Amino acid sequence: MTGPAVVLVGPMGVGKSTVGQLLAQRLDLGYRDTDDDIVAAEGRSIAEIFVDEGEAAFRAVEKRAVRRALTEHDGVLALGGGAILDADTRGLLAGHQVVYLSMDVEEAVKRTGLNAARPLLAVNPRKQWRELMEARRHLYEEVATAVVATDGRTPEEVSEVALDALELKEA
Ligand code: S3P
Repeated sequence: MTGPAVVLVGPMGVGKSTVGQLLAQRLDLGYRDTDDDIVAAEGRSIAEIFVDEGEAAFRAVEKRAVRRALTEHDGVLALGGGAILDADTRGLLAGHQVVYLSMDVEEAVKRTGLNAARPLLAVNPRKQWRELMEARRHLYEEVATAVVATDGRTPEEVSEVALDALELKEA
């Protein structure tokens, strides 16, 4: 199947962009991020789109952005944390190498708790993150061909583990 060599999924703040860029360097491939595509196309931040138009409108824009990136990009592709909520998007991921970057709640709060640019976690981050993961964990697992825990690991370590997981898949 053509399309990205690797797709990264996982909750916000888990390090998809940082790890994705490291993986792209290691594999000598381009890096693309659907959140960046949306911001560039809309000329507004993700937070502004949420506030101006609401989550449903953002998800519709996101769905189109993911579909486009999956056809256009052949490198490392990171998806926004909620992209897998869409059943059609999950269907499109079938047949791709998809790495789910996971983390536990304490790591999540450490990494995202004070980040107001992430509208879904702006208030009571610990509780919101737990609820978010209850709704999403099985969806990340459903689309993943490999799961890499990021807790206590540096981005470099995470990308090494992800590369090993990918090599195992290819062997
Ligand atoms: C979201 C994750 C964000 C961004 C938006 C919604 C989510 O992307 O798409 O704020 O629902 O988990 P990152 O995972 O890249 O932060």
